[in-house]
Amino acid sequence: MKKTIGGLSVLLEGNNKHKAIIFIHGFPYDHSMWQAQIDAFSEAYYCIAYDVRGLGNSSVGDGQFTMESFVDDLERIIDELQLETPIICGFSMGGYITLRALERMEAKFSAVILCDTASHADNNEGKINRSEIIQRINARGFPSFAKNFIARCYGDVYKKAHKEEVAKRIAKSIKYNSIGVKGCILAMISRNDTTAYLSSINIPTLVLCGENDTITPPDTMRAMAEKIKGATFVLLKDSAHMSVVENSTDANEAIKAFLAKL
Ligand code: MLT
Repeated sequence: MKKTIGGLSVLLEGNNKHKAIIFIHGFPYDHSMWQAQIDAFSEAYYCIAYDVRGLGNSSVGDGQFTMESFVDDLERIIDELQLETPIICGFSMGGYITLRALERMEAKFSAVILCDTASHADNNEGKINRSEIIQRINARGFPSFAKNFIARCYGDVYKKAHKEEVAKRIAKSIKYNSIGVKGCILAMISRNDTTAYLSSINIPTLVLCGENDTITPPDTMRAMAEKIKGATFVLLKDSAHMSVVENSTDANEAIKAFLAKL
């Protein structure tokens, strides 16, 4: 079932009496990147996967987004659906939202899953790169950037074996409104560094990373996990940045084992 909450397109799957898991996708994707997780967990959990503002079917508005406004959106979904201490699962940009949400309101959550993400903010080089991306989108449109960027998120082996899936993903994302896309880029450029908060996280934490991820690499994610008390770090084989898609079997196994211990 789909619902619109504050202009956001929210997919709700499973029984709302069950424990809720909120899935937050990365850039430039939408809720559908979580299909394998929704299929695996919606029988036992109430699965909520929404499109981040500016992407998918969520409203674009004026594209003036910040990580703070993304966390406000998340809070609104939790409040409107009256979710009691959901589990939160964020991938990459969704992980940035998740980490800032923990820093602002950790008591609202019972556990956290961080997938191929990072706690550090963009350094100067990163900010300049993202500014150049905005210029490129202005000059040549979003599709030419999106094709290359999305292709970089998947490992070569997966891309060869799943040409059609990757092509479908690109075809979907390139249609996104460039105002929404640039709003997400600006929110990522201006986000806070949440590293100092990691050692304060006091809820069970699972950290997942694709072994060939070059965007949020294993060393960075392992170091992040080491700062979180009692966190479990799982390296997912045969996958790059899109590990939860590329190796959903192992990702789901790791999530299942983590959830069983809660
Ligand atoms: C994502 O997958 O959400 C992006 O790679 C995050 C980023 O560009 O920092």
